[in-house]
Amino acid sequence: MSVQDPDLIFAKIARRYDLLNAIISFGRAQAWRRKGVEELPSGRVLDLGSGTGAAAPVFGDREVVALDPVPEMLRLSPIAERVVGVGEDLPFEDGSFDGVFSAYVFRNLDSVDETIAEVARILRPGGRLVVVGLGRPKNRFLAALHRMGSAIVLPVVGALIGASDEYRYLHRSLDKLPPPEEMFADQPLRLDRAWRMGPLGFVYGVALTKE
Ligand SMILES: C[S@@+](CC[C@H](N)C(=O)[O-])C[C@H]1O[C@@H](n2cnc3c(N)ncnc32)[C@H](O)[C@@H]1O
Repeated sequence: MSVQDPDLIFAKIARRYDLLNAIISFGRAQAWRRKGVEELPSGRVLDLGSGTGAAAPVFGDREVVALDPVPEMLRLSPIAERVVGVGEDLPFEDGSFDGVFSAYVFRNLDSVDETIAEVARILRPGGRLVVVGLGRPKNRFLAALHRMGSAIVLPVVGALIGASDEYRYLHRSLDKLPPPEEMFADQPLRLDRAWRMGPLGFVYGVALTKE
């Protein structure tokens, strides 16, 4: 297996995924999702890269469709409507969603731009995309500090729970994308809000609207 292939990684770790997430986020992963979901409209919402459906409890009474390329993840999900697919090629009609939510997915995408173009297509006018993700702190000095910390801590945690490949992948993937304040600024959706969460602000949230 190539450790570079996120699909294979997520198929391999599907059952351990929620535990890994809790460790990486110091138990805060759901609180960070919830803060993002607060920015979503009511109505029909796509959970893009839904995984095991961990966000299900925070969606309230919205009608949720879960999409993920890895059937092993979706099989563990409590969300009733589940679709196998990728963000870059969404199998939905134009203007068919009020909101799109995506937590901890964007650094795994093949193409951020293609995915945002597809999200813009399936959102109704006035609809919203909310993304929550892990990256590096905004400040360059803190980002360097965080990079050193994750280079040491993540392999140790990975070795302890027998998931070294996955943790090495995680460490590398945190530097894969530009800072969210830049990445989401020049897109077909309007960037309304960007915020930071977690230790040193290494977790970001953004809310974008289709005009
Ligand atoms: C870190 S998990 C996050 C799962 C879930 N959103 C959560 O909050 O727990 C990343 C998910 O992104 C999915 N993924 C990877 N590539 C994708 C793509 N191109 N389009 C959509 N989802 C993708 C993976 O299968 C995995 O389930």
